[in-house]
Amino acid sequence: MTRIDLLLSDCRAATMVAGGAPYGVIEDAVIAVKDGAILWIGPASEAPEFRPVSAARLDGRWVTPGLIDCHTHLVFGGDRTAEFEARLGGATYEEIALAGGGIRSSVTATRAASEADLIRAARRRLASFIAEGVTTIEIKSGYGLDLETELKMLRAARYLDGDVRVVTSFLGLHAVPKDQDRDAYVAMIIDEALPAAHAAGLVDIVDAYLESIAFTPAEVSRLFDKARSLGLPVRLHADQLSDGGGAALAASYGALSADHLEFTAQAGVEAMARAGTVAVLLPGAFVALAETREPPVAALRAAGVPMAVASDCNPGTSPLLSLRAAMMLACSQFRLTPEEALAGTTRVAAQALGLAARAGTLEAGKAADLAAWDIERPAELSYWLGGDLLHRSWRGGVPVVA
Ligand code: NIG
Ligand code: FE
Repeated sequence: MTRIDLLLSDCRAATMVAGGAPYGVIEDAVIAVKDGAILWIGPASEAPEFRPVSAARLDGRWVTPGLIDCHTHLVFGGDRTAEFEARLGGATYEEIALAGGGIRSSVTATRAASEADLIRAARRRLASFIAEGVTTIEIKSGYGLDLETELKMLRAARYLDGDVRVVTSFLGLHAVPKDQDRDAYVAMIIDEALPAAHAAGLVDIVDAYLESIAFTPAEVSRLFDKARSLGLPVRLHADQLSDGGGAALAASYGALSADHLEFTAQAGVEAMARAGTVAVLLPGAFVALAETREPPVAALRAAGVPMAVASDCNPGTSPLLSLRAAMMLACSQFRLTPEEALAGTTRVAAQALGLAARAGTLEAGKAADLAAWDIERPAELSYWLGGDLLHRSWRGGVPVVA
């Protein structure tokens, strides 16, 4: 009899393995966990005998991969409620940014915050995601915009790794800081800040904001060349407010993902399909900014571009503390199917973070990151806007929400 750490039984598994039954369903499933990974998963009728240290019968509940939020700006100082009010009064996001607010106002607050302050505030926000079954979260820098504060943000993000797995993205090219020479700033980020953050082991992925109010294709290309020379994968905030050719640029670097994509044209979609670049859809920003231009979901689907869904949790454009709400909004605003939305926060989200071999589906060999739900069918995860549906969760087989 095989000794294992954890045995889950009497459950229905939405494995999210592609290519078979919808949701990769296994009815009456058994999941055996050993050393943090799934050792065996399959129908109870075929299960070998296991000797578990602990066991849970789940009374027919659904089990999915732990949810993965592949795009957040969870670490920041202050808040931007005043800008929210200004936008409600008629100001646009671009106008506020050009007047020195927007990202720059979060930069001022983030520089002023201590590392402990940043951790405390981010941990409070993270609790909302953990409570809804998130077991992996990506967190970006980009509100420091100087070496010291970018490193402080990334250290705070790394510190939060525990109940959830944290993946970091270096977003030095997020905005040009106030009163600073643009070229000197770009050079500092590329030649100094990125190498220093990488040397300190703080960077998993390199990100940038390509936009008319942010950085140009030439500047982003220089950053991505540097990332390549350091052996780091890249991703890009692309085509959110205008078509800057961001999707095609990201694809030309073999980016893990291109994110937002509201203004992406057909050529960008096709380039992403060829490169295997994931489209990360961020309906929280779309809703909070009251945007009307939708990302080309039908074209992405037709071209076979995998679609992820993320919260984009940030103080400016997406004050969204729920990945499940993002799933619901992706369905209602962008017409994803509930199955696509769940794939977008499990299997495809893992791909967007370069974690496809380790997470995102329930398969032998993958991490035992699991969520058990009080639902009757998997589509409910994308159907309810809010609500506490989680029964239990585990990271690497260790209970998180118990
Ligand atoms: O993903 N688009 C750029 N970055 C963030 C917004 C940042 C901010 O306004 O603070 C985003 O939407
Ligand atoms: Fe973002």
